[in-house]
Amino acid sequence: MCGIIGYVGMENAVPVILDGLKRLEYRGYDSAGIAVLNEQGFGVVKQKGRLSSLEKLIDQHPIDGVIGIGHTRWATHGEPSDINSHPHLGSQHRIAIVHNGIIENYQQIKERLQQKGISFVSQTDSEVIAQLAEYYYTGNIVETVIKTANALEGSFALGIMSLDEPEKLIAVKQDNPLIIGVAEHGNFIASDVPAILAHTNKVYYLNDKEIAVLTGSTVEFFNMDGEPLHKELEVVNWSLDSAEKGGYEHFMLKEIMEQPKILQDTIHSALSGDNAKIIESLDIAKYKKIVITACGSAYNAGMVARYVFEQLCRVSVEVELASEFRYKDPIIDRDTLVILVSQSGETADTIAAMREAKRRGAVTLSIINVVGSTIAKEADNTIYTMAGPEIAVATTKAFSAQLVLLYLLAIAFARKLGRISPEVEAKLVADIKSIPNKAAEILERVDSIQKYAASCVGYKSIFFIGRNIDYAIALEGSLKLKEISYIHSEAYAGGELKHGTISLIEDNTMVVAISCCERLYEKIYSNVEQVISRGAKVLMIGNCIKAAPGEKLEVIKIPAINELFSPSLSVIVLQLFAYYVAANKGLDIDKPRNLAKSVTVE
Ligand code: G6P
Repeated sequence: MCGIIGYVGMENAVPVILDGLKRLEYRGYDSAGIAVLNEQGFGVVKQKGRLSSLEKLIDQHPIDGVIGIGHTRWATHGEPSDINSHPHLGSQHRIAIVHNGIIENYQQIKERLQQKGISFVSQTDSEVIAQLAEYYYTGNIVETVIKTANALEGSFALGIMSLDEPEKLIAVKQDNPLIIGVAEHGNFIASDVPAILAHTNKVYYLNDKEIAVLTGSTVEFFNMDGEPLHKELEVVNWSLDSAEKGGYEHFMLKEIMEQPKILQDTIHSALSGDNAKIIESLDIAKYKKIVITACGSAYNAGMVARYVFEQLCRVSVEVELASEFRYKDPIIDRDTLVILVSQSGETADTIAAMREAKRRGAVTLSIINVVGSTIAKEADNTIYTMAGPEIAVATTKAFSAQLVLLYLLAIAFARKLGRISPEVEAKLVADIKSIPNKAAEILERVDSIQKYAASCVGYKSIFFIGRNIDYAIALEGSLKLKEISYIHSEAYAGGELKHGTISLIEDNTMVVAISCCERLYEKIYSNVEQVISRGAKVLMIGNCIKAAPGEKLEVIKIPAINELFSPSLSVIVLQLFAYYVAANKGLDIDKPRNLAKSVTVE
């Protein structure tokens, strides 16, 4: 994972890079570091721990320069430690690099270089890049980077500085994201757009095997043969406000609260904006089945969507974990539409699933939040969630935007397949258009959810149950809770309780039951009674709950809506519940331990 940033320009690179790193910290936060280059050579400050400790260290050991690179780490090779932190330098201190990715052949390169007498100081795969570049250095940094990149197997986004060409900042990438930002006072490389939004919204998206050479006033691109490339400068429409906390204690709460607006934007775009054109161009009648593949919450969005597609389109839908997809010899061919769902568009497993699907001839459609990301670029078709930058590691608004896009896709497909009449379609669309206001209604009642969540911090384990589409959203409720509160949690289909999980229910176990499927109310309520009679305390969330709250039962009602779209409302309560449980435990909600937002390693 890891976040990288680099700057060359007229300003002191250190505060510029520190500010960028703060916005990249969601990508990894076990160590951080900065290297600048000035007349004295490289100045490097790096250490294990959060960025705040790096800032203190820089206060004690100031460095400055108008060119520099920075890194925030999520360890893969080599434990989080001062020495394993980036930037890494070659042993002659002539090349400095920051790296996001994994070098698969680092051991072979390391041994080769060690035999030539080069000594290594860290346990990382990344150090070999600096050592190899220094070893290969020809007097021409572009040539050297090409030679070095050609020798690397694996994935990398790199920022590189050379003592011998001190005015140049070099970037190159393979399978990990990197953008180039162009500002008035200088130029940037960064893992993503929010890192540089304070300075510019003008970016180049670097493709695999492209090299960017930045000086304070120029940006040039080359291919791996060293030939110049022309690239278009693009303007990003994300605002800086959307990447700031705006008075909220955590990004997660801010992003939960933004949902009515982003839902509206996403619905609008799918009905009459850019997404609408793409959706209309898809000929669903060509496909015999649909496969949705994704990771984490995006997978849960797929689980919800399966119910909607199957119900409305009567087409068979499979939902696959992207990490499993390519290893299972999937039964897909040119008659399959493979839908990839990803906030970042950079999740390594989802990228691999996409490539496998394409290799087997399937047509791919991606639902992505980050414009210019790998999946967005490589998929045959892409539609965008209009969620804006999402900073908290645990996704909320991007998930909600994915859901409404998937619903609207299902409706468009159902129409094309002749499965729904224009009247039914109009009714379904009207239901979806009502989601933003209904979401806002729930958010107005945040205090009661907060109060209830405060009483739940002591549980060691919390189960989530639901039936049908409520089960699909229970998966997301459970994931949200465990991600940020560290409370053990699992989600079950209500009917499965009796096949094992009920043995875990005892006095003071907590169960959250979702109930938005009216026709299944009696069934889920009987599950609730079963667990209450075994000592559990239950929170029911839904819009068809007949039971009255009691000593063992709490009820949170949500507005009425078509069962198929109810996950968009129940999830808001589930997000708030998870958030306030974690907040009451005083945890670092935006950066939960061991997690990273964009998982660019397998
Ligand atoms: C990480 C994040 C999750 C996210 C998942 C997939 O695990 O913590 O919130 O759902 O990756 O990410 P993607 O960018 O592909 O949606």
